[in-house]
Amino acid sequence: MGKKGRLDLVKMKQAGEKATWITAYDYPIAHFAEKVGMDMLLVGDSLGMVVYGYDGTIPVTMEECLIHCRAVRRGAPNTFVIGDMPFLSYQVSIPEAVRNAGRFLKEAGMDAVKLEGGRRVIEQIRGIVDAGILVMGHIGLTPQSSGQLGGFKAQGRTAESAEELIKDALAIEEAGAFALLLEAIPPELAQVITELLTIPVYGIGAGPHTDGQVLINGDMLGYFEAFTPKFVKKYTNLAEIITKALQEYVDDVRQGRFPGPEHSYSVLKEELDKFNDVVKRYKSSGKK
Ligand code: KIV
Repeated sequence: MGKKGRLDLVKMKQAGEKATWITAYDYPIAHFAEKVGMDMLLVGDSLGMVVYGYDGTIPVTMEECLIHCRAVRRGAPNTFVIGDMPFLSYQVSIPEAVRNAGRFLKEAGMDAVKLEGGRRVIEQIRGIVDAGILVMGHIGLTPQSSGQLGGFKAQGRTAESAEELIKDALAIEEAGAFALLLEAIPPELAQVITELLTIPVYGIGAGPHTDGQVLINGDMLGYFEAFTPKFVKKYTNLAEIITKALQEYVDDVRQGRFPGPEHSYSVLKEELDKFNDVVKRYKSSGKK
């Protein structure tokens, strides 16, 4: 199967087939994800925390995002890849939002962009869609506004906030977004939104009823250690695996166990005599 597009994702929703995606920030993970037939990839602005070690996504720039989008595109040339619009790349004005969204397509080969927020960014979503660009909405826990939300906290847990999120979701679909991501909300609310919308609705920490799931690769592969949200399932523990390998390497070098003969190059047979002469001459000269 070739690269999936918007209509394939809609068909999957209609057929009740779950879409699977993760975040990717580099060539190797993108390559492995494509190898296992992942339906989509997101070059999330979570790269700020996972790759750059910031304590949130606010400092992430357009340039950082574009560099990682290009690497992911090279690693997964046949996968639908979404570029995540970083903080202040779309909030300030509609023309700026359109121009920055376009850069993800023109300069990094992305298939779509994602941005955070509901009705308050609806004109930006409309503007980007009008420019012919696929946009995914993202509501619930929106890390770029975690300050306003009081931290990285689950959303939609009260009747009032649930209703606000439903209104946001409907507005995002009406503005022309091709899909919606729900983050850290109760499953019952995610189910209502998924059923109300005709566009695909995906979830991270939003329960099992959405049209598909996304996880942050640093979480599910177990190498991002700063914190692990409740909704994460760790499929492996790369932190442990990597630390163990690095420790063994350090010990091997210090104990003289690495490199061994199997890691060394031999002199060309036909050059052996002349080679030995050179080595002997320099050895006997005593010069270091
Ligand atoms: O930046 C990101 O990784 C995200 C996740 C919530 C999927 O938006």
